[in-house]
Amino acid sequence: MLMKPLKTLSAWKALEQHFKAMRSFDMRAAFREDASRFDQLSLRCGNLLLDYSKNRVTSDTLGLLMQLARESDLEGLRTAMFSGERINFTEHRAVLHTALRAPVRPPLVVEGIHVEHEVAAVLRRMQNFVESIHNGNWRGHTGKPIRDVVNIGIGGSDLGPAMVCHALDHYAVENVRVHFVSNLDPAHLAGTLKLLDPETTLFVVASKTFTTLETLANANSAKAWLLAALRAPAAIARHFVALSTNAQAVEAFGIDPDNMFIFWDWVGGRYSLWSAIGLSIALQIGWGNFQALLAGAHAMDVHFKEAPPEANMPVILGMLGIWYANFWGTDTYGIFPYDQRLHLLVPFLQQLDMESNGKNVSRANRRVNYNTGPIVWGAPGTNGQHAFFELIHQGTRLIPTDFLMAAVNATPLADQHEWLLANCLAQTEALLKGKSRAVIEAELIAQGMSRKNARALAPHKVFPGNRPSNTLLYQKLDPHTLGMLIALYEHKVFVQGAIWQINSFDQWGVELGKQLAPPIRAALSSVRAVGEHDASTQGLIADIRRRRGLST
Ligand code: F6P
Repeated sequence: MLMKPLKTLSAWKALEQHFKAMRSFDMRAAFREDASRFDQLSLRCGNLLLDYSKNRVTSDTLGLLMQLARESDLEGLRTAMFSGERINFTEHRAVLHTALRAPVRPPLVVEGIHVEHEVAAVLRRMQNFVESIHNGNWRGHTGKPIRDVVNIGIGGSDLGPAMVCHALDHYAVENVRVHFVSNLDPAHLAGTLKLLDPETTLFVVASKTFTTLETLANANSAKAWLLAALRAPAAIARHFVALSTNAQAVEAFGIDPDNMFIFWDWVGGRYSLWSAIGLSIALQIGWGNFQALLAGAHAMDVHFKEAPPEANMPVILGMLGIWYANFWGTDTYGIFPYDQRLHLLVPFLQQLDMESNGKNVSRANRRVNYNTGPIVWGAPGTNGQHAFFELIHQGTRLIPTDFLMAAVNATPLADQHEWLLANCLAQTEALLKGKSRAVIEAELIAQGMSRKNARALAPHKVFPGNRPSNTLLYQKLDPHTLGMLIALYEHKVFVQGAIWQINSFDQWGVELGKQLAPPIRAALSSVRAVGEHDASTQGLIADIRRRRGLST
């Protein structure tokens, strides 16, 4: 489809005008003037409640944002994704992670292959394998059952499964523990292996391409560790499985093709936890719970496909992000789960959002003239409150935020959950309301401070307020809810990529570093001197060589 440049769309222009009027918008006044603001600006989907009333928006803002979504043909791109068109056009690939989680898979043919049959066949093999590990039918080389699983992968082959396994730790099966190793730094693998017994350990080598340096290095070291202990190449077949799209490379590594679970190039790495890459999740929480996770994501897919834009959670979250990034000029976006189980959600969302929408060229192959994906950051509450919340409350920058919380804690302890919820709500309330100089001065004087001193101190204690936040409330963190939450953010990222007219599904930005590393690696340790590099890189290489006793 021929796209008009984003800034020439009439909704964009109208939003630019509208923004001028909104610069002085005060949410506090809006709440005072409209008792129904929360009802108007909140939305339910399953057990998720999204409250987006604490944003610098009016019904006009939202109307224009929805008009922008329509003019950008968000709907058309969404249909194209769900129907298997190759919307990842720089890699000539369809984008079909949604097909992995549909309980009833309608016929879907990609490159002459019936996707629905392939997906069902792999899921069946995964289920059999998971059950055989759990019931002890699958034994290690020396006949002992598997007790520890080490997922070796990086990026999308690590962050999604690791995040879900931590989040759903309270659903973990009793007899198997899952560990994650991603970093090339040997400290990661060595630190994990020192706790494990080779006879009862299974390695799950997760790599879409099976060419990723970090994963292959760790997998080779793991293989050496296993063989040093078990002293039989045949042990590999009982202690290594692979999750990949690249059967040839898996076989070349020495993993039996029977121990390989495939997926397809239409599953992007950062969208792959729903595919065979989810094997470690199923090993940790059991097959039924893995199915519930998929079902939750599917429920969000249905909502995203069917709900009108004005009542569509991913569309609303995505368009609010556009409003702040492109009209208010915000650069970052904070995510604060008041849920310790979601402590890996932020790293996961960083890859999902920043690898997807950290682009500067449009689908028309032109440099864009507006900002695209934000810098995503955050940490679980309440930890963030005692670290960096100062900047959100009193810093000079405007930072849109998401706060997440469960109504019920799966592992309650005394009244700790009540305090957790109270803190989450207090933060969003403080961001909204702020605290004025006059109130602070009066408080200080009431505490006995002189008028002069109170006047001097008060500005430091002022909270400007009128700072935005979304709140996502869910019943409790269970597999179905987590599936919904992840799919919500996936689709939000999709919405924003559609508006920014970029390809959210490639990742060429990771390639240059990969190309530059091998010659530098050679220069660090070879006897011969260093090749051509800029003076800074050259100086650093020379210093490392000197420290290692090599000539510079
Ligand atoms: O280098 C970036 C990247 O390709 C990510 O997109 C991907 O999730 C990660 O590396 C791991 O890739 P693979 O699964 O092919 O090892």
